[in-house]
Amino acid sequence: MKLSRMILIAAASVIALTGCQTDKSINVITTEVPERPAGQSDMVAFAAEPIDTVRVGFIGLGMRGPDAVKRFINIPGTKVVALCDIEQERVDSAQQILRRAGLPDAASYGGTEDAWRGLVERDDIDLVYIATDWKHHADMAEYAMQNGKHTAIEVPAAMTLDEIWRLIDTSEKTRRHCMMLENCVYDFFELNTLNMAQHGLFGEVLHTEGSYIHNLQEFWPYYWNNWRLDYNRDHRGDVYATHGLGPACQLLDIHRGDRMTRLVAMDTKAVNGPADYEAVTGTRPAQYLNGDHTMTMIQTANGKTIHIQHDVVNPRPYSRMYQLTGTKGFANKYPVEGYAFAAEQLTGNENIPDHENLSSHRCITPEQQAALVGQYTHPIIKEVGEVAKKVGGHGGMDYIMDYRLVYCLQNGLPLDMDVYDMAEWCSMAPLTALSLENGSAPVEIPDFTRGAWQKVKGYHHAGVAGEAGVGTLD
Ligand SMILES: NC(=O)c1ccc[n+]([C@@H]2O[C@H](COP(=O)([O-])OP(=O)(O)OC[C@H]3O[C@@H](n4cnc5c(N)ncnc54)[C@H](O)[C@@H]3O)[C@@H](O)[C@H]2O)c1
Repeated sequence: MKLSRMILIAAASVIALTGCQTDKSINVITTEVPERPAGQSDMVAFAAEPIDTVRVGFIGLGMRGPDAVKRFINIPGTKVVALCDIEQERVDSAQQILRRAGLPDAASYGGTEDAWRGLVERDDIDLVYIATDWKHHADMAEYAMQNGKHTAIEVPAAMTLDEIWRLIDTSEKTRRHCMMLENCVYDFFELNTLNMAQHGLFGEVLHTEGSYIHNLQEFWPYYWNNWRLDYNRDHRGDVYATHGLGPACQLLDIHRGDRMTRLVAMDTKAVNGPADYEAVTGTRPAQYLNGDHTMTMIQTANGKTIHIQHDVVNPRPYSRMYQLTGTKGFANKYPVEGYAFAAEQLTGNENIPDHENLSSHRCITPEQQAALVGQYTHPIIKEVGEVAKKVGGHGGMDYIMDYRLVYCLQNGLPLDMDVYDMAEWCSMAPLTALSLENGSAPVEIPDFTRGAWQKVKGYHHAGVAGEAGVGTLD
């Protein structure tokens, strides 16, 4: 963190941050919120001019990037114009995807660290799609926006507060979209549950949970130049929070009426992390900073809470947790999908078998759940769910993500995720590190919208008919 963003440890009252009734004073770590430069305005609900055919250039063709190329050639109204990877043979291999589909080769950029700049400077590209290692994301996206391109960046799009504010300022200044490719908000259970929440099925949603619990042992050897283990070796904190946090934030209308105000993080010691590192590199690292298991608790301005977790080294079943507690109901995705409701909540809903005998002490039956999901299938899933399953990408959610990105660009609509979603979700890496390095002290989460977090009321996807709680501009 640069000196200009040096932390300030200030005594601040709990009342000031949360509105809670207590007179105890606590130390809260705050970070600098740079003033919005003159001539810039916020990007909330920003819509760009419609683009008939979305011409795209891809940077980063490792394990993740080529699948995005495959998905794009299955989305009508797109053209793959250019491909780039520092490893030239990865570009050559991605060209095969186009050839197999009977499409012409794309322009090829590779072989050097800076070859991507040539792709970004082309004047026949609308969207730069970035799937490199984390350290390259922000510089590439910033330069792409400066060159007039919309940007879509793999998770996490930015790792430090300096990178986050740079991307916000560049997006606000250039009026180009800066979207993080958070695919998990498009998973089927998450989308359907969001739809139920927006229809009020859970009452007021008070608490949400998310996680990235995925034992990456079998993948470590395949990351380019060992970038991911190196990052975990050198950084404490939840360095990969966005899969868990994205869906949790959409349920709580974050920066659409509410905002995250502060967090507290705790972690375990690092045991399997350094062992994995040694197994891959043959060398025991002198120090390994990322705790094996990291937990973060977050509070919002409207008195809600979020719990997120990160663990990529222990032998646990895959989990993104995805859990919500509302005043009238509950939803849970991992390890077992289930919904529970207050006894009266589904009374009178003739679609749901045995609806008059609900008990909040247990989840509804599989038959009731199937009927409920049938009734509340998200309109986006109704529209593209079948194609998404066929094209694939984590069961279809990756296709829905790219499809929605292209749809909104083609129709000149605000994107489903804006630059402030990127900022809020990515800020977990630097802010949890601050908390951990200061004895789990509370850390203030900046208002990345700089005052615009109540401009839109309620989360919604633009251009989707049949969604409840459609947001309105003040
Ligand atoms: N959303 C998801 O579900 C999901 C899944 C996997 C990975 N990811 C994300 O995708 C990104 C890529 O991950 P990965 O697993 O493909 O890693 P990877 O190491 O397999 O691929 C990274 C690629 O970037 C290339 N690269 C590095 N520097 C470059 C430069 N200067 N110019 C051009 N190319 C360069 C490398 O050669 C490599 O091919 C990461 O941000 C990761 O977190 C997301």
